Parts: sequence; C-alpha cells; structure tokens
Amino acid sequence: MNCLSPSILSADLTKLGEQVRTLDDLGAAYFHVDIMDGMFVPNISFGFPIVKAVRSLTEKVVDVHMMVEDPGRYIDVCAEAGADIITVHYEACRHLDAVINHIKQVGAMASVAINPATPVSVLSCILDQVDMVLVMTVNPGYGGQKLIPYTVDKVRELKKISDSSRNSFDIEVDGGVNTENAGMLLDAGANIIVTGSALFRGDLEENTTQFLNILEE
Ligand code: DX5
Ligand code: ZN
Repeated sequence: MNCLSPSILSADLTKLGEQVRTLDDLGAAYFHVDIMDGMFVPNISFGFPIVKAVRSLTEKVVDVHMMVEDPGRYIDVCAEAGADIITVHYEACRHLDAVINHIKQVGAMASVAINPATPVSVLSCILDQVDMVLVMTVNPGYGGQKLIPYTVDKVRELKKISDSSRNSFDIEVDGGVNTENAGMLLDAGANIIVTGSALFRGDLEENTTQFLNILEE
C-alpha cells in the first residue's frame, strides 16, 4: 500500500494539533518525526516529547526518523514515547544488527536509513531483518532541499531485492519530495512518501489532497 508520511519538521509547531488532525482526517496514514542531535547531522530539531505529542494526537502510524549518533541508546525511550516505526541510520550504528533486534524487542517496526552516498549493498546482511528501508533523497539535516537524482536508482535496486526476497520490506523516500517527482518515486518502487516543505508550504489541505491523489493513481 502507498502511504503519505507528512514530516512535521515543516509543520507550524504553534498549530501542531490542528495540522496533525487536518492531515489525519484527509487520509495521511503515517506521521514522520525527525529527531536530530546536532552530531550525526549539523542541525538540532526536537526530541521525544514531540513524538509523545504526535502520539497523543493520532492513532495513525508514528514514523520516527532518528538522525542521531549511536541511536541504540534511545530505542527504549523512543518506543515509550509512542513510536510505531523506528528508523536508524546505517552510518550511525556500530552494531546495526543489535540495534535492529532491540527495536523489534520493544515491539516497534524496525527500519534502516541510508544517506545519499551510501550504497544499497552495505545492507545485504540486514535486509531480511527489517520492515522498512528509508532512502534519503537529500543529505539529512534540513527540510526544503532538492532531491538528488542518483538516489532514485537505489530505490529501484531495493525494490528489485524486496520483490525477489522472502522478506519484502517497505521503501520510504525522504527529502525534496514534491507533487512533481512523487509519481516517479512511486514508479521506482517507493511506497512510503515523506514530504515536509512541499506539503506545509501554502495550502495544507489542497497540497495533501494532491499528494494523496498521486499516491492513489
Ligand atoms: C531531512 C528530514 C526530512 C525533512 C524532509 O533531513 O529527514 O524528513 O523533513 O523535508 P522536505 O520534504 O522539505 O525535503
Ligand atoms: Zn526524515
């Protein structure tokens, strides 16, 4: 199934409740929460209190993207805050297998992310263990960047692997996704579409409807 995962990094935090409810009512299936530590990525966003707030506002899937060094330190607190999916970066984990197992132990869906310059091949040993792979289509850290075209080849590569392996996993794309390129990303094999600035800039309801129509096509 194709799902929209609005990135609340671009939401108006003074109206978070209102905006989450609007998106929920219109049909967003996931809510993407970006946690940044100022180390793995240059920026600092917000932490688990915001995950908790989003959890209290919706029954939909809370999709937490940890852009954090050594994210294994925060799996318990992230799950307690209400995350349904926990994504950790391949580049940030010294013991990726242990971290993925830890995420499963706490009852969340386990997901691994790769930066634009990280090849798919480094995930070959872990793909049987994950529920989702997040392909970063920009360098992580900031909303509002332009999609890097070569990252789309990695979506195609992962889709092929998912289709031919016993463990099929979801493929999420994150960064620079807009109504112009979303269709192309779905064609490449992505099924979870994260979008921040393209959704929250301008008319939220109109933009959401446009994205959802593309996802249904
Ligand atoms: C970037 C974050 C994204 C970000 C996407 O590092 O992981 O989730 O919010 O924002 P847009 O859609 O504006 O690129
Ligand atoms: Zn993200």
